[in-house]
Amino acid sequence: MAEKIIIDTDPGQDDALAILLALASPEIEVLGITAAAGNVPLSLTEKNIRKICELAGRSDMGVYAGCSQPMSGTLVTAEYVHGASGLDGADLPEPVMPLQAMHGVDFIIETLRNEPSGTVTICTLGPMTNLGKALTKAPDIAGRIRRVVLMGGGLFEGGNVTPAAEFNIYVDPQAATIVFGCGAPIVMMPLDVTHKVLTTRARIAAFRALGTQVGEVAAGWLEYFERFDEAKYGTDGGPLHDPNVIAYLLKPDLYSGRHCNVEIEMESDLTRGMTVADWWGVSGRPKNALFIRDVDADGFFALLTERLATLGRADTVRQPKLRLV
Ligand code: RIB
Ligand code: CA
Repeated sequence: MAEKIIIDTDPGQDDALAILLALASPEIEVLGITAAAGNVPLSLTEKNIRKICELAGRSDMGVYAGCSQPMSGTLVTAEYVHGASGLDGADLPEPVMPLQAMHGVDFIIETLRNEPSGTVTICTLGPMTNLGKALTKAPDIAGRIRRVVLMGGGLFEGGNVTPAAEFNIYVDPQAATIVFGCGAPIVMMPLDVTHKVLTTRARIAAFRALGTQVGEVAAGWLEYFERFDEAKYGTDGGPLHDPNVIAYLLKPDLYSGRHCNVEIEMESDLTRGMTVADWWGVSGRPKNALFIRDVDADGFFALLTERLATLGRADTVRQPKLRLV
């Protein structure tokens, strides 16, 4: 039985590879993809999701625009990492597939209410505004979520947008507070694990060696995306964050971590958006998240490369489903 998921995302080249990995994996059924504002504004992230779906031959996918601003404060974006389009490094055509009329927050609520309780996983790859708003608008959905698997936060690695805060949490700490406090099972992919999966030259060459359009586009995206972090960290390649969320669904044994309490700093300007993870269990607070710290990086890239290789072949390009309206 495939795991039913909603992907909430702010593409972003790393988001794009996560979406492609999900669409290439029969163990996963993507019920829909909701656009978050984050790496670039909502008007671009929703378009980028549609470009990615069409690249994967999935123009049948339901894509929904979510919130354009965080629950509090104003949007912080990251064009300095992802480029003006959010998907710099490869040139994809303007999308033809439609954007759904329903708001992303309502799609999350309706889907969780309509699917059997405990059967839908929410995968957040950007600021968690849409899920935070959905939980606020419809508190009943919290008990219906199978699990939330999210990319965000950091502890031993510190932050990447401030010394204390990782970008997804920093952009919307109020939404993150709501999600971490909602009671649903949470699996957290922080910088502590994503900094261990680096897009080295050899790994990017393996994508290009696939000889497919997806492989070529993925290599171009990563060569662009990694330049900022290579300069910052002085490494061969940069961290590949978001696909770890999907890889965890597919091969959880690639990962290890610890259940612990995670709270979000909201007050201080200095540490706003910091994920205060009680790794050593000194607080006595409830252990509300599985904090993933380690990964088999070679196993991760083998999985990602193997699955991307299946996209674009005739047997994987699905015909658009007739949508009964
Ligand atoms: O800090 C990394 C996260 O911020 C990733 O999800 C990346 O896509 C950006 O959204
Ligand atoms: Ca992202």
